[in-house]
Amino acid sequence: MVVISKKVKTILVTGCAGFIGSNFVNSFKEQFPKTKIVGIDDFSTGRRDAVNRGIVFYEGSIVDEKLLDRIFKKHRPEYIFHFAAIPRVSYSIKYPVKTSVANIIGTVAILEKAKEYKAKRLIFSSSSSVYGGAKVLPTKEKENLSCPCSFYALQKYSGEYFCRLFSEIFGLETVCLRYFNVFGPGQYGDSPYSTVISAWLTGLYFPNKKNLFMEGDGRQSRDFCYVDNVIQANIKAMLSKKVYQGEVFNIAHGERTSLSEVKRLIEKCTGKRLDLKKFPIRIGDVRHTYADISKACNWFGYVPYVHFEEGLKKTVEWFKSLRLKN
Ligand code: UD1
Repeated sequence: MVVISKKVKTILVTGCAGFIGSNFVNSFKEQFPKTKIVGIDDFSTGRRDAVNRGIVFYEGSIVDEKLLDRIFKKHRPEYIFHFAAIPRVSYSIKYPVKTSVANIIGTVAILEKAKEYKAKRLIFSSSSSVYGGAKVLPTKEKENLSCPCSFYALQKYSGEYFCRLFSEIFGLETVCLRYFNVFGPGQYGDSPYSTVISAWLTGLYFPNKKNLFMEGDGRQSRDFCYVDNVIQANIKAMLSKKVYQGEVFNIAHGERTSLSEVKRLIEKCTGKRLDLKKFPIRIGDVRHTYADISKACNWFGYVPYVHFEEGLKKTVEWFKSLRLKN
């Protein structure tokens, strides 16, 4: 694979105050110190303290066309990293309209501006949830047709489809990265919709903020992916010399870990006991996720260089530092 030069002038990061977006900005800044980073976030789920001070920041929504137009006209970003979304499967079930506006209309609005201002490529954050319950493990993109079974999954699937059509109809380059259960520093676990690792670590380090529970028998498993791997996937997708027309790629660790094993590893890593209440299995829960990541590896050299346990240790360290600050 040939790699283009690092002379990227300007990028736009949507959702730059969110968990993945803020980690991305910090890491991108180190790797590309000369590139101007423009960020947008409306703090619907992101946090003010997560916005990197060294970027050009706009507070506002991605469905605000006027604001988008102002940003694109002024900065003309070459690459767009579209992280902004209202996440969580169960939240989308409760709030289908609000989440559809942000996750579908917001994506279309960004695509339209990217096309209008002739961006070089847009990298879209999709989700493993688009598979529904994957029939074959490890899951390949081609063998497992998308079968969204929540509004969130459908919104992400629509985003992928819009990306493909913008590529086909207008020639805008788009790449869709399907993330599998991302975790790491910066992911707070204090909401009722929190993902499992962040929820359990929040419960351990901030016991007044969270009740801890295990849904189901703990034998369900997930392909947990440390956030740095997701960041590298985005950067590699930007640097790749190939032409992208809405291709979809699994971005995961490429291994699966059961929830009971996660519990054991957290206890080992923290030296604390996780007392989990037993809850029934979550409605619509997928039993296992486990990605085949060879396509991303073949197309743009994706390698999940931070392994699960190492990522867990880094995440625990972050929770400890957070407690010291509080
Ligand atoms: C889903 C999506 C994933 C997306 C993620 C975050 C699927 C297959 N995956 O992950 O792509 O990145 O949402 O929006 O749809 N659990 C507990 N206790 C807790 C929290 C969760 O036992 O405190 C259990 C859940 O029942 C589930 C597992 O842990 O079995 C993982 O849940 P969660 O972390 O919420 O992520 P997913 O729903 O798997």
